[in-house]
Amino acid sequence: MVYLTRGVVATGLTLLAHSVAVTAKESSASPIVADGTHFALNGKNVAYRFHVDNTTGDLLGDHFGGSVGDNIPLEVIGEVNGWVSDIGRVRREFPDQGRGDYRVPAISIRQSEGYTVSEFRYKSHKIIPGKPALPGLPATMGTEEDVSTLVISMYDKYSDVAADLSYSIFPKHDAIVRSVNVTNHGTGNITIESLASLSVDLPYEDLDMINLRGDWAREAQRERRSVAYGLQSFGSSNGYSGHLHNPFLALTEPSTTESQGEAWGFSLVYTGSFTVNVEKGSQGFTRALMGFNPSQLSWVLPPGETLTSPECVSVYSKDGIGGMSRSLHRLYRNHLIKSKFATSDRPTLLNSWEGLYFDFNQSSIYDLAKEAAGVGAKLFVLDDGWFGKEYPRLSDNAGLGDWVPNPDRFPDGLEPLVKKITDLKAANTSTNMRFGIWFEPEMVNPNSTLYDEHPDWALHAGPYPRTEARNQLVLNLALPEVQDYIIKSVSDVLKSADISYVKWDNNRGINETPSPATNHAYMLGMYRVFNELTTQFPDVLWEGCASGGGRFDPGVLQYFPQIWTSDNTDAIDRISIQLGTSLAYPPSAMGAHLSEVPNHQTGRTVPVAVRAHVAMMGGSFGLELNPAVMDEEDKAAVPGLVALAEKVNPIILNGDMWRLNLPEDSNWPAVLFIAEDARNAVLFVFQVAPNVNHSWPRIKLQGLDPQASYKVDDGVVYTGATLMNIGLQFAFKGDYGSQVVMLEKQ
Ligand code: GLA
Repeated sequence: MVYLTRGVVATGLTLLAHSVAVTAKESSASPIVADGTHFALNGKNVAYRFHVDNTTGDLLGDHFGGSVGDNIPLEVIGEVNGWVSDIGRVRREFPDQGRGDYRVPAISIRQSEGYTVSEFRYKSHKIIPGKPALPGLPATMGTEEDVSTLVISMYDKYSDVAADLSYSIFPKHDAIVRSVNVTNHGTGNITIESLASLSVDLPYEDLDMINLRGDWAREAQRERRSVAYGLQSFGSSNGYSGHLHNPFLALTEPSTTESQGEAWGFSLVYTGSFTVNVEKGSQGFTRALMGFNPSQLSWVLPPGETLTSPECVSVYSKDGIGGMSRSLHRLYRNHLIKSKFATSDRPTLLNSWEGLYFDFNQSSIYDLAKEAAGVGAKLFVLDDGWFGKEYPRLSDNAGLGDWVPNPDRFPDGLEPLVKKITDLKAANTSTNMRFGIWFEPEMVNPNSTLYDEHPDWALHAGPYPRTEARNQLVLNLALPEVQDYIIKSVSDVLKSADISYVKWDNNRGINETPSPATNHAYMLGMYRVFNELTTQFPDVLWEGCASGGGRFDPGVLQYFPQIWTSDNTDAIDRISIQLGTSLAYPPSAMGAHLSEVPNHQTGRTVPVAVRAHVAMMGGSFGLELNPAVMDEEDKAAVPGLVALAEKVNPIILNGDMWRLNLPEDSNWPAVLFIAEDARNAVLFVFQVAPNVNHSWPRIKLQGLDPQASYKVDDGVVYTGATLMNIGLQFAFKGDYGSQVVMLEKQ
């Protein structure tokens, strides 16, 4: 039998060819080593290797996983028989179309002649210290110490199209970030029909895939399944990252758990529609692609122009799904979120929505703000309903687009009210209340002055009906005049009063567009708006929202350090929503509020402490109720709960998260947060259903220093080893119990 090892022909089953990819000295020291046409990216505990195939010019993957030495065994390829050609039996970094690789390609280009075949061959490469920004797109960032970039230039000589693959490695975080630039050097227009930011072939036949599915008010439900032969796809087609599927994928060994085993995490830094393809091929490899949704691309690229893909972050951990999440969290906290509030200063807020909905005036808003200050909130947020002149926003059927205060509700404008509210002091402090406000700037109600004046600014497809959702249409943010209008109207409001927080909402999907490409053009316009406003108002704390977590993605996080995790404020539902969201996103990014009972979404009544404890696991803790109508006892508990939330908040914002028990597996979900300096930790334990005539759960901690001693709440000191090997035991009364335990390293 004949075996091929990348162009090496040999006989015998035992043959392994060794590629001398890198020299020993360089490999241990450098994050990127390019030795001829062999490439190595080295992280603290990750190695990524690939090389150029001498015969085909293709880029072939050699390894993405734990650290390796300089020499690595190359793939041994069996005799080529059947319809799948050589190129379909190897691990490709940038699979194009044609030549007998029948797996899903990373790029599909329709040339002006109609061909959809391409042949990208390696041309050259360069190493760049640091990481260049992506034009018009959100992207991870860092200094030359934090990150290094390798750009591989591929070229299709038949169509004169170039594809530059950019790989940036953050060695400290075991993260590799990839994006692709496609440039048309030919003479006719080409159309990019599909383009994946990530394409990786793992040499494993048995893997599990994990993704986050859901819908409105039940976002981020963890879904785990075995990767089957053929294609498994999920994604979004509603114009945004959406509630239904998050732009996140994990691949794991079937035996991987939260704390053990190999896990690869992939996270797309993009807020638009996307597609994830996982394909187990006939030859036993698993391909993962993540990028634009091909049904909403058809991007026409005239000669001389470039399309830049969003970037995809890949992390690897051998410490299970928890290790994968912690790498993503650290990367996002330190190298994605631009806001100065990324890891600090998130005031306890009270948002008016569930307390008053649309039913308020100037004086009831002030009363609510006084109540907020009375229970210790530091920021009052005026939600939906404050705007609209000709078409006042009294319900959700009017006013979006007209960002001027409703003159009936605020006869003197916002300024005097904001002044009165910011003069209030939060209970028992000398801290002045801050004031925040809600916008939904990407939208327009047909009942609005904006729509009367600019009906063409709403997204539509020629003569087809403009389908409404929540009585509203989506503005076409691909149009510069729409972008400018939004920037101006939001800035005018922010300049009109002392406003230090904005909740940026977005409450429907995109249905009709003039062309598929409008979807990405919209995103570029939206990012321009986000960038300009957050740059112009760096002292404003911006919170993203899209009917809750309809846009919980790294693209939004670049500009807004926190996102309203879900419109479902039921504490028990929130445990799985927040823990699911934490697969990819740092707890610092989650907005989470204590709301009233019975819960407005589920009708469930949960004790006030449990509601607050769940909410304080989010970086932005808040209240979503009217304290004036609370049960007296519950209300009396709020200031203490606010104080506890503020005490644990720095650990939530900066610390590492250890999911000890998952709500889908246990009646006692538990999470440990360990501060960045490892001196303090906080443990949250919940009980979901009553426990009768049965022993009480023991929660084994993780991530502590086994030798160190830790003082637990009650003053008893245990070693880390004891806390991790025996754990702490908890007892609860009734259903819906919770406990918060502080740990302090001695
Ligand atoms: C969305 C948000 C809510 C609230 C309402 C206001 O549903 O997710 O928090 O702001 O809009 O209309």
